[in-house]
Amino acid sequence: MGGIPHDHYEPKTNAEKWLDSRLPIVGLLYGTIMIPTPKNLNWMWIWGIVLTFCLALQIVTGIVLVMHYTPHVDLAFASIEHIMRNVNGGHFIRYLHMNGASLFFVAVYAHIFRGLYYGSYKAPREITWIIGMLIYLMMMGTAFMGYVLPWGQMSFWGATVITGLFGAIPFIGEPIQTWLLGGPAVDNATLNRFFSLHYLLPFIIAALVAVHIWAFHTTGNNNPTGVEVRRTSKAEAEKDTVPFWPYFVIKDLFALAVILAVFFAIVGFMPNYLGHPDNYVEANALSTPAHIVPEWYFLPFYAILRAFTGDVWVVMFASWITGGIIDAKFFGVLAMFGAIAVMALAPWLDTSSVRSGRYRPMFKWWFALLVLDFFVLMWAGAMPAEGIYGVISLVASAYWFLYFLIILPLLGVIEKPLPQPETIEEDFKAHYGKAETPAE
Ligand code: HEM
Repeated sequence: MGGIPHDHYEPKTNAEKWLDSRLPIVGLLYGTIMIPTPKNLNWMWIWGIVLTFCLALQIVTGIVLVMHYTPHVDLAFASIEHIMRNVNGGHFIRYLHMNGASLFFVAVYAHIFRGLYYGSYKAPREITWIIGMLIYLMMMGTAFMGYVLPWGQMSFWGATVITGLFGAIPFIGEPIQTWLLGGPAVDNATLNRFFSLHYLLPFIIAALVAVHIWAFHTTGNNNPTGVEVRRTSKAEAEKDTVPFWPYFVIKDLFALAVILAVFFAIVGFMPNYLGHPDNYVEANALSTPAHIVPEWYFLPFYAILRAFTGDVWVVMFASWITGGIIDAKFFGVLAMFGAIAVMALAPWLDTSSVRSGRYRPMFKWWFALLVLDFFVLMWAGAMPAEGIYGVISLVASAYWFLYFLIILPLLGVIEKPLPQPETIEEDFKAHYGKAETPAE
């Protein structure tokens, strides 16, 4: 499949030609911004821009915070208080960074579930999807290490619990844990390396985002119908697309403005709403908080981690078959990473010939259940790991795996899809009337 046929940049003046023959950067920018984009994209296609904004916001606010922050166990907590009280605008910068992380995850989850519904992960967009998954893993690592930096109680105990997970790996777990921590327990060496990596990772994410964008610019965007842009001629392609600039830039900026209005209201009026009060208490290795709860965006996977206790039959079976090498703790770790791995494998697990969930009558319901399941897991992850909460976590965790490993492969075989439109143009006209181009 070739790219979507469209106009390319032609240098006109001598100066333009001079630059283009040495560094074709204007052509690259032109190609990026003028890329033909399916004209039927709906509001679920705004999250990529929101994510790009979040990445930039986190890097800019982070760099300012670093100017006043001290990565040392004796000074870290105090330096955050210094930022909050003494640095001009410091509290604002910190609240932007704290809540910016939450907006980043709201956007990434919306973006991922959009992809899961419209089948954006399916061929030929597997690489876009896999790069996205790598970005998501790195975002989680970055957020986790960032949360350790203020050196509050949740920072310390969260780091203790999460690095402890690596200790659950049979045979090599303990040396790995010691290596990650830089010593036998969470301490100054841990804080230092987390600080270093927390600063580094966003730049690696930025590089991966460039590859992500490169990949979907190569295949062209997916769209709500899942039907590809016609590529037989430029005239045909132009009936299905509009250039990204100005149409989608304006649309995306409008959406971003609305989202930022809500974001700034939270930053201004309730900046600690999503945080935990214990993190305003300095880290104390001698006093464990009653409940160690991760940030909201980790909760679904935290629930999966805790769901598989020693009395669950699959865990008992795994332990028996491996002669005890896989115990409940290690099983939980495998389940948590496995939950992300099965999502990453979606392009190969989904056997349907139809891309978009819009034309998949059975898929729709299972997908709706998956979304609900995600929120149930998020809720269960915040509850104490006992009694009914344990049962709910287990059922919800099981559904997560069931969806990706059984339902997705099976649906492709048994489901009878609804008729899809022949072209994007047809879908566009059905939704937005008969206008040939949206500007007229
Ligand atoms: C820093 C994080 C990310 C940034 C900045 C980003 C950026 C973008 C942008 C700008 C687009 C095109 C417009 C849109 O669909 O909204 C896009 C598309 C896409 N993204 Fe991401 N993304 C990120 C993370 C992810 C993650 C975690 C996944 C899931 C694994 C993912 C999967 C996809 C897919 C499958 C598409 C193609 C959709 C299409 O072709 O329309 N992205 N991304």
